[in-house]
Amino acid sequence: MSLPITARTDAHGHLEIGGCDCCDLAAQFGTPLYVFDEATLRDRCRAFRAAFERRHPDSRILYAGKAFLNRAVAQIIAEEGLGLDVVSGGEMAVARAAGFPPDRVCFHGNNKSLDELQMALDWGVGRIAVDNFHELALLGRLAAARDRPVEILLRLAPGVEPRTHAHISTGGVASKFGFPIADGQAEAAVQAALTTPGLRLLGLHAHIGSQIHDLAPYGQTVRVMVEFAAQMAERHGMHLAEISPGGGWAIRTTPAEQAPTPEEIAEAIVDTLHNEVARHGLPLPRLTVEPGRAIIGPAGVALYTVGARKEVPGGPTYVFVDGGMADNIRPALYGARYQAIAASRANEPPSEMVTIAGRYCESGDILIRDAALPHLVAGDLLAVPAVGAYCLSLASNYNLARRPAVVLVHGGQAHLIRRREEYEDLLRLDAITDH
Ligand code: LLP
Repeated sequence: MSLPITARTDAHGHLEIGGCDCCDLAAQFGTPLYVFDEATLRDRCRAFRAAFERRHPDSRILYAGKAFLNRAVAQIIAEEGLGLDVVSGGEMAVARAAGFPPDRVCFHGNNKSLDELQMALDWGVGRIAVDNFHELALLGRLAAARDRPVEILLRLAPGVEPRTHAHISTGGVASKFGFPIADGQAEAAVQAALTTPGLRLLGLHAHIGSQIHDLAPYGQTVRVMVEFAAQMAERHGMHLAEISPGGGWAIRTTPAEQAPTPEEIAEAIVDTLHNEVARHGLPLPRLTVEPGRAIIGPAGVALYTVGARKEVPGGPTYVFVDGGMADNIRPALYGARYQAIAASRANEPPSEMVTIAGRYCESGDILIRDAALPHLVAGDLLAVPAVGAYCLSLASNYNLARRPAVVLVHGGQAHLIRRREEYEDLLRLDAITDH
């Protein structure tokens, strides 16, 4: 699994992250607690930038904010020189409040509203990745009222289907995202974009899915995109100034899993891009990639307090924790697998196989099956690494759970970057209080 780079076991046998004892963090901030290691987050940003920029200097790394975004994270991403992929007015509002430079932002989504498009233009986002003909028409209308051209990419459905969970596979021809190439819709979109006054078509985008281990589908995607660009150059005079094969790289959430490194990812994509562009006689475009999970996933660790246990004769032994599917729905939704660490007894060898179950009213609220752990009792602290991406951003108030606090740790200091919801927060949106 991907532990944060600062993780170690301290003299008390406690898991330590960013120089902070996890038991102290739990005592200070309560549990469930999401701990983000600043050093790991910055290291992942730098590793992606270095890997791509060394091979292709005109590269841009955009962090996909849907993985997890708040102001503190947006500021670190900005400081590290990355751009940002946003998919909603909400993500734009947070990035704007963080002072994120809008020219480094790309706005994605398959059903952006007129208001959101207007918001993006008013804020000055650098790129809009247009997903369908309706959006092209809306943008054309908005662009007509502006004095500067609106710079767009067209999102393609390249017809590439990587091996991943069906819920997070997005590149096939039947996907809800993007213009399919095969049936001519992508070509029609290129023609429409090139002939709509006020729009400037910069290039092409695709995103084939998420938690993808294999790099071959990325090579295939780049090949399909460059071939399409070459056809569009010949038939319609399109100039490919920018290309983005999206994001989607897997991280290790269990020791058995392998995941590509930024170096391997960059090598696969840049080599294919250079070869294909040369083969078709096109100039080298700017290359943009959009990792979300691979940037922030390894930086996040969830801390839970153990409560009750339940032994089923001939069946599993359950260890219950004070969180579960309301803060991490990924096991229930995608069959995602995680590993647990006994954070309060990190030196003790495993002595039993247990099922870590959450506290919510669903039988499917299981965080980890077959976790090998020392015998945990009420009050012990359990850590689940590699949860920085798509856990809190998919979190809910199911059972009127209060969403967890988030701390950023660095050099022995812990900064609360998001407080835990209070019961008051659960009441604050009720419009009628005495019906
Ligand atoms: N670019 C676009 C256009 C995307 O739609 C996504 C993710 C990304 C980049 C970043 O993908 P990443 O590198 O983070 O895999 N909730 C799911 C993941 C959904 C991903 C949606 N799009 C999960 O928990 O696995």
